[in-house]
Amino acid sequence: MNEKTDIKYLFEPRGVAVIGASENPEKIGYRIVENIVNSGYPGGIYPINPKGGEVLGHRIYRDLSEVEGEVDLAVIAIPAKFVLDAVKECGENGVKHLVIITSGFSEVGKRAEERALVETARKYGMRILGPNIFGIYSAKASLDATFGPGGILPGHVAIITQSGALGIAMIGKTAAESLGLSALVSVGNKSDIDESDLLEYLADDENTTVILLYIEGVKGGERLLSILRRITRAKHVIVIKSGRSKRGAAAAASHTGSLAGADEVFDAVMRQVGVLRAESVQEAFDWARFLADSPLPKRKDAVIITNGGGIGVLATDACEKYGVSLYDDQEALKKAFSSVMPEFGSTKNPVDLTGQATAEDYEKAMDLALKNDQIGSAISLYCETALFDTEAFSQLLSETYARYRKEKPIVFSLFGGERIERAITKLRKSGIPVFPDVYDAVSCLGALYRSWEYARSPEETIEEVKIDYPAIEGALATARAAGRTFLLAHEAEQVAAALGIPTPQAIVAPDLDAAVAAAERIGYPVVMKVVSKDIIHKSDAGGVALDLENQDEVIDAYQAIMRSCRAYNPKAVIQGVEVAEMVRPGVETIIGARQDPSFGPVVMFGLGGIYVEVMKDVSFRAAPLGKRTAHSMIGEIRSYPLLLGVRGEKRKDIDAIADVAIRLGALVHRMRDITDIEINPLVVYDHGEGVKAVDVRILLKGSPGGE
Ligand code: ACO
Repeated sequence: MNEKTDIKYLFEPRGVAVIGASENPEKIGYRIVENIVNSGYPGGIYPINPKGGEVLGHRIYRDLSEVEGEVDLAVIAIPAKFVLDAVKECGENGVKHLVIITSGFSEVGKRAEERALVETARKYGMRILGPNIFGIYSAKASLDATFGPGGILPGHVAIITQSGALGIAMIGKTAAESLGLSALVSVGNKSDIDESDLLEYLADDENTTVILLYIEGVKGGERLLSILRRITRAKHVIVIKSGRSKRGAAAAASHTGSLAGADEVFDAVMRQVGVLRAESVQEAFDWARFLADSPLPKRKDAVIITNGGGIGVLATDACEKYGVSLYDDQEALKKAFSSVMPEFGSTKNPVDLTGQATAEDYEKAMDLALKNDQIGSAISLYCETALFDTEAFSQLLSETYARYRKEKPIVFSLFGGERIERAITKLRKSGIPVFPDVYDAVSCLGALYRSWEYARSPEETIEEVKIDYPAIEGALATARAAGRTFLLAHEAEQVAAALGIPTPQAIVAPDLDAAVAAAERIGYPVVMKVVSKDIIHKSDAGGVALDLENQDEVIDAYQAIMRSCRAYNPKAVIQGVEVAEMVRPGVETIIGARQDPSFGPVVMFGLGGIYVEVMKDVSFRAAPLGKRTAHSMIGEIRSYPLLLGVRGEKRKDIDAIADVAIRLGALVHRMRDITDIEINPLVVYDHGEGVKAVDVRILLKGSPGGE
């Protein structure tokens, strides 16, 4: 059997063998058997150890071949040097999946040894999870095949983690936070099964409503994105990623490359596919717990109910930060809440019941908010006062939550002394979303709204754009034939023309007479640039002259360019000059596309000059792009208002920029040989007047700094 076995039996095995099972409670092989037994796994449990014996009431088999029952899963916990033989033995005995706990493979440079495991497993149609992992937990099978502390609560959150140590610690943490899990999987070295394979299974697992990913690095990001894009329509997906480093960025040869830091691209593409990125493990846990229990909102617009003005304002700030819109119909608010309000209270949102509010006032206000169809969700805040008992308030809070928890999203934040702290701990234990910090409460609500909005947004269709690919292949072939991994300016302009991106009219002139004739044909003013494969940075070589108004200036410029370029690089072969139309001024932007090492084709956009150089004000999206995505990428830069027109200026041609972004995205998605294409500047004119690509640079696979 050579085809890959369905991953279902990894999560729902009918029998589990533990190779390296030990009678010694200190050993990992013992702990795994113990967890399998304690988790109540109903299938066959087959400890394997050549010494034989018994562990926790289960016979230890000397050899897998002695086992008569079906073994879908084998957990391997023996020293690295014995693992390959064990893999073979599993294959010969019909095992479907291997969970290889053992460390000491590719993570310590033993790549060949790890490859051998995968190749052997493939021969038998087995799939490998690991090596170098702490195991797998599956609620569906009541199976804890990890060497963690045990006590995992079953629930609806699936965790996939690249970090073993953090994953083990998460077991204790989830239990302490009463967070129920549907699955917990450690992926370790990802020799075979990776996040994408696991997500394929979890996508169809009705038990899982929230997926939490802890990621350190991404391989095969394009597949991951396409699976995530689909899953996030039905489930909430949270990601925590460590390593916000700028690895690799410095070596990149283009702006797009140097700005496309691994983390910026990760952040952008996760948002693009509806994944919620948490800043910390705690935030991820808070979100996971809240999202697993909360109903989806039916509408936007939250209401804040508080007994303290200050905390209400903090909540308002938090709503702005996390994108939670507030219900704002003043008349309706007044009508709804005036019955529970003292004269000096406020029926605006935040609804401020004031410090003299009683538990009954709170209850009434919450009822009003939660029954009102115009209000999407509620944020209930409480500052400890002498006027009513924290115990009584906790009781009321539990009852209100129980009444409405399936109807509307609700979060609570309580602030005060020891009694409040105790109340919070108790309420959280019983699964109520109560937070000491109002920002944490609103952050959960924000995550819910973001996930909900993504899921209900219509799926984007990516329209085919007309691009003359044969012409582009021709330009690339010319460069390749000349032994180059970059395109000369006029070749890059041919590519732009084939893409349907407007460029300034230009003519390559081999000598002075031809340059003059070209200038006459194009019409003044013109610009002139040296054409030489040996001179890439033309301005540095004195190879560029701008704003040439007449024939005399063209002659002078030609001679000056030749002189400077020969002095700059005496060996350079100069093919002539390019004479081009002088582009009229507009807003200078930069737009590029490249092959990202993790996620494949991505597009970048920003304004030129200081916006890109100093402020790094750029945005990214994974390609190919539809219109909506292109517009959201453009709208995401901080300097976007400049494109909308400031101080009486007209709105710029944003549709034309989006069109260029779509075309560049389609190109790098289809032609993987192009590692970088960058237009800098892309000059943008007023709405309806289009854009012009002034300088186009293209790098091919194999170029220094390219991927
Ligand atoms: N078949 C079955 N049993 C075998 C075999 C075999 N082919 N070979 C040896 N055994 C038995 C041994 O006799 C022993 O049993 P015993 O206690 O009865 O003597 C048992 O298997 C284990 O073998 P040991 O040699 O005692 O190995 P030990 O348990 O010390 O270590 C382990 C094995 C745990 C797999 C170790 O090699 C290892 O890789 N440790 C790291 C695990 C890890 O951290 N993984 C990543 C987790 S994520 C994180 O970072 C926390």
